[in-house]
Amino acid sequence: MLRASRSIINRHSSLRAATRSFSKEDPPKFDAEMVAVYMKLAEQHTHPKGPWPLMTKAVTAVAGDRHIKMLDIASGMGEPAKTIGLALPKAEIIASDVSEDMIAKAEVSLKDVPNVTPLLANAEDLSSIADNSMDVVTCCYGYMFPEDKGKALEETYRVLKPGGVLIATTWDKLDMLSIVGDIMEACLGHRPPPPPLNPMSLSEEGLFESMVVKAGFQNVVTEMSTYPFDFGKEKGFQLKCGTLLIKDKIDELGAQEVAEKAFFDNIHKYATIEAGGSMMLPANTFQMLIATK
Ligand SMILES: C[S@@+](CC[C@H](N)C(=O)[O-])C[C@H]1O[C@@H](n2cnc3c(N)ncnc32)[C@H](O)[C@@H]1O
Repeated sequence: MLRASRSIINRHSSLRAATRSFSKEDPPKFDAEMVAVYMKLAEQHTHPKGPWPLMTKAVTAVAGDRHIKMLDIASGMGEPAKTIGLALPKAEIIASDVSEDMIAKAEVSLKDVPNVTPLLANAEDLSSIADNSMDVVTCCYGYMFPEDKGKALEETYRVLKPGGVLIATTWDKLDMLSIVGDIMEACLGHRPPPPPLNPMSLSEEGLFESMVVKAGFQNVVTEMSTYPFDFGKEKGFQLKCGTLLIKDKIDELGAQEVAEKAFFDNIHKYATIEAGGSMMLPANTFQMLIATK
């Protein structure tokens, strides 16, 4: 069951009509070890230079001593809403996502975090949330995915109070996608085009800022941060990390051996092996944008 904060959700709208499932963004359906791989990759975002701690710091600075209302867009399994909710127990937070599966997982993850409420909602249609009702909107690695990104930003602007703050992160560089490209090239015989749900769709310099300004925001500031991904010490686990995003495709092509060879032939371009034996992809870079309504 979805929980909803009645004070800030407009009950006249049809929530179901405003949403659709995005199963491609869900953790693929695989064995317990692959789930462990997925969770390990999600954990990387907790690195001190990763998005969840930096966004939490930014929200904390905006909140000060206030009891803020906050909407987290594209929360997936509930982040960074959960981290922020734990850091700011007085904040009233909604963790929203378009995927029913993700929201089901967020329900579980957030069950002991009473100030964070999961909500099924498409960023392009936040009609379940009242105008001018939020002090802060956060979105970690989410604005790259809506079909109409301008509409998603207009909706963000609408739900923020005047003076409210948007804090959003988008990918600039993600070496995991480079190794995925190398593997798919080996499996298919050609480099595939970017996927329709492209994590790099806002990586062009200045693009996201210009869209944010077009939606009406002002005082736009950005900062970049780079943090490592740790693929662990064990070769089988490293391979699973590198092929997580394309496991279904590799299985469909029956190309497991080609994929494995391509992974180990190419991963040295992006990864280093630490003294303790862990495979690290050091160069994952995102932009954090902060703007006011
Ligand atoms: C890369 S995940 C990020 C999840 C989480 N914010 C985090 O930091 O781990 C992207 C999320 O965007 C969601 N998403 C994609 N399109 C969306 C849309 N139009 N509205 C809301 N969420 C969307 C997906 O369901 C997915 O959970």
